[in-house]
Amino acid sequence: MCSIFAYIGYRKAQPILLDGIRRMEYRGYDSAGIAVKNPEIQVIKSVGNVSQLQEKITQIFDGQTGIAHTRWATHGGVTDENAHPHFSFDRKVVLVHNGIIENYKALARQLQSLNIELKSQTDTEIIAHLIALELKSGKNPTASVLNTVKKLRGTWGICVMFADHQELVCARFGSPLLVGKNENEMFVSSDPHALHPYTDRVIFLEEGHIATLTQNNVELSSPTKNSVKAEIVTLEQDWGEAELGEFEHFMLKEIYEQPDALRHCVSGRMSLNQGIGRLGGMRLEPAVLQQTPHVRLLGCGTAFHAAEIGAALVERLARIPAVATISSEFKTNDPVINPKAIHLAISQSGETADTIAAIQEIHLKGAKAYGVVNVVGSTISRLCGQGVYIHSGPEQAVASTKAFTNMIAALTLFATQIGRSRHISKDQGVDILKELQQIPHKMEGYLESQGDIMKAVELLKDAKCVLFLGRGISAPVAKEGALKLMEVAYIPCLAYPAGEIKHGPIALLEEGSPVVVVAPNDSLQVKALSAIHECRARGAKIILIHEEGDSISSEGDISIAIPKCHELLSPLLTVIPLQLIAYHTAVARGCNVDRPRNLAKSVTVE
Ligand code: M6R
Repeated sequence: MCSIFAYIGYRKAQPILLDGIRRMEYRGYDSAGIAVKNPEIQVIKSVGNVSQLQEKITQIFDGQTGIAHTRWATHGGVTDENAHPHFSFDRKVVLVHNGIIENYKALARQLQSLNIELKSQTDTEIIAHLIALELKSGKNPTASVLNTVKKLRGTWGICVMFADHQELVCARFGSPLLVGKNENEMFVSSDPHALHPYTDRVIFLEEGHIATLTQNNVELSSPTKNSVKAEIVTLEQDWGEAELGEFEHFMLKEIYEQPDALRHCVSGRMSLNQGIGRLGGMRLEPAVLQQTPHVRLLGCGTAFHAAEIGAALVERLARIPAVATISSEFKTNDPVINPKAIHLAISQSGETADTIAAIQEIHLKGAKAYGVVNVVGSTISRLCGQGVYIHSGPEQAVASTKAFTNMIAALTLFATQIGRSRHISKDQGVDILKELQQIPHKMEGYLESQGDIMKAVELLKDAKCVLFLGRGISAPVAKEGALKLMEVAYIPCLAYPAGEIKHGPIALLEEGSPVVVVAPNDSLQVKALSAIHECRARGAKIILIHEEGDSISSEGDISIAIPKCHELLSPLLTVIPLQLIAYHTAVARGCNVDRPRNLAKSVTVE
């Protein structure tokens, strides 16, 4: 989604700005732009990627201050005019913005009544005009930004540059921004990852904060305080340069990274002699675990599917109600929140606006939320203040793979922790944890011998629609397989709990319709088998994911075996062939696997 990068210092700004936004390309965007003070403000914008922007830039400016942006369109089409940065009517102010201004139409009408002509269809441009009006009335840059944001409704991370003033001014409300500090230079970024080559000393702007930057100084203020103390923290994790190595795409590389990523996630977090997962960052005492009335897990997309699996694990191991809720639906439904309940907010990026909004609703109603997050220092991890990092390492492909399996691994540890304090015996806990320890090895075994993935791709690559089925803990895996195939190969997919097909989806089936069935060797396999028969009776072709040596294998037109495993841990393995099927089908269809159309890695708007 949209990204911001800015620089003020002693070096030429332009190459640093382009490098900064290039490092955030993985987030997904559709246009890009930069503005450099040279000493006049020069703005260059382009539809497409950063390389296309670079082609449009015919000279290297000497200017040492600048702002840059990649845009993921929300208001107004993908055009050069709508790309950021945006100038004010008098060209005294230029700015970049992440987020959505909800009251922009009313503000635009006010500007038009002052004969200010809007040059774009964006919600962003009005902010530049409003700041310029404040400047014109004699306010300084910081006060101009402060007075302007008071008029805005919605979310913003903005970075503003001025024709007649040296400083950059940034403001944050609902959209992350951080300042990087170095000797005689400052950086602004919407993503810590982009700052790593330049500095590890950063200041995370909090909600409502305004930062005024010169090359040697940062001053923080807020609408209620003239001065706010800036807390400098050291960035912990350097993603480094994620290299493709032997792989053609990041998605494939990340699928193959799952065994090591999972080892990293569980390492040091199991007490094998007690049969208990240890998640120190959750800071959950046994007494709290014992008294909690229920567990609620929140997430979007892949994180929601992991939440559904986590809920099943908690119910099975702790025998208390656990429910997974899509974050974007949570606050909409004015949820009843019990302050004693445990709320888990699950997110790879830690920046998903819908999940952040759900956490804020939980906080507002007096309860705590615990983050289950990949990106260290992200908004969700800081907002929750406690939780577990899933340690997947950088996930660059838009389609989430290794974060999914690590979310499940972390939730399995949590489920054994709460399970041991309430229901399961030490032996049961030990059994699950020992099996969990074996999963990376089993993943490697499967990746070495993947079965008939390419035959499945042949069946799917020209399909009109694909149905994915699973029962119990495999139902969310089926959903995840459908999401993966849909997002990278653009094939319409439906996913249902297998028992549900006779209540509607079976109407879609005709001769040759592909149906993917996830049927590990658990107590529900016999039910999945009934669904297979119902589908085959209507001419469907079955792609079956099953455990090796299992007699059900003869039921698939194409059968793909995963290693045998504990019935509660099967999602960690059954999902891998589904990820591979999605990947290879996308390649076969010539799709842009790592950057699927219209999608963003971090969805930072509600
Ligand atoms: O960063 P998050 O885990 O919060 O992201 C949630 C979803 O946007 C994400 O899982 C999305 O569905 C992926 N593209 C799925 O591959």
